[in-house]
Order: sequence, then C-alpha cells, then structure tokens
Amino acid sequence: MRKFACVLIATLGFVSLPAQADVDGAKQFVKQYAALVKGVNPSYVLNAEAGRAFFIKKHDVNGKKIACTDCHTDNPASQGKHSKTGKPIASLSPAVNAKRFSNLKKTEELFDEHCVDVLSRGCTSQEKGDYITYLLTVDAHK
Ligand code: HEC
Repeated sequence: MRKFACVLIATLGFVSLPAQADVDGAKQFVKQYAALVKGVNPSYVLNAEAGRAFFIKKHDVNGKKIACTDCHTDNPASQGKHSKTGKPIASLSPAVNAKRFSNLKKTEELFDEHCVDVLSRGCTSQEKGDYITYLLTVDAHK
C-alpha cells in the first residue's frame, strides 16, 4: 500500500488545501482513492456503509479488542478521546472540523499509523476511500 500512497502523493504533488476548504478536500481525496481502487477492483463503488462498518469493527490485537471508535468514539462528528493518553481528539468529520483531510501527506501518515495499530497492517485505498465517504455523510447532527 505504501507504494500506492507514494504514487498518490507524487501524482497530487502534496495537495495542501486551505483550512476553509471544508468538505472539498475530503471529496477530492475520495476521488483520488476511487481512482486507485479502479485499478485494483474496477467494479467496486466506494460507499459509506462499508466505511462505517470498517470504522466500528473490533479487531483482536494481542488478545485485546480494539477499534477506531476506541479513540474516535462511534460518532465521528463528536470530539474523540485517546484511549491511552486521554487527550482530546478533534472531530474527524470534515463538515465539523474543516482542518480534516486538507493535507494528503498528513492523512496518509495518520492512516498508516492507526491502521497498523488497529488492523496490524496498512489500510487499502478501498478502506480509506470508503471511510472518508462515510465521514462525509456525518455532520454535527448525525
Ligand atoms: C489509540 C487512539 C486512536 C485509534 C485507535 C485510532 N485513531 Fe485515528 N487519530 C488519533 C489521533 C490522536 C488523531 C489526531 C491527530 C490530529 O488531531 O490531527 C487521529 C486522527 C485520525 C485521522 C485524521 C486525518 C486527517 O487528515 O486529519 C484519521 C483519518 C484517522 N485518525 C483514522 C483512524 C482510523 C481509520 C482508525 C481505525 C482503523 C483510527 N483512526 C484509530 C488516534 C487514534
């Protein structure tokens, strides 16, 4: 996956959108991931349902069950809390937090980190694309 990420970043030339871009950045990322998915699985259409399932799924890691929701809560529009440090985490929903998905390099780094923590592997473009598609459906009122 790292190779895809590099290709993606190289293609985009480190897109860094202004913070006020709001959901536009996230929408643009979805398009980029969709293009990568097409190369692997041409009939697949990114969808919010799969993104939500991915987000709430619990995984066995060294005998412990962990999920994205452990830190991000089950509502991405709300503020999260780090499961280990207790530090607050700003909302993941781009409609609520305009800073989200405005820098592809940062997003890729965070995905890499968290996917390895939770899934013990990197996430696929399909998972990332589904996930952001889901986040785009979540606003402050959920
Ligand atoms: C142990 C706690 C923890 C877990 C578990 C976790 N995250 Fe995160 N996540 C964080 C923190 C902390 C940040 C905030 C960094 C910041 O505010 O920019 C973050 C930010 C993010 C971002 C922000 C990207 C951006 O462009 O701003 C994404 C996407 C993300 N996480 C996805 C996931 C996914 C998907 C999972 C499950 C596979 C997951 N996270 C699990 C702690 C966690």
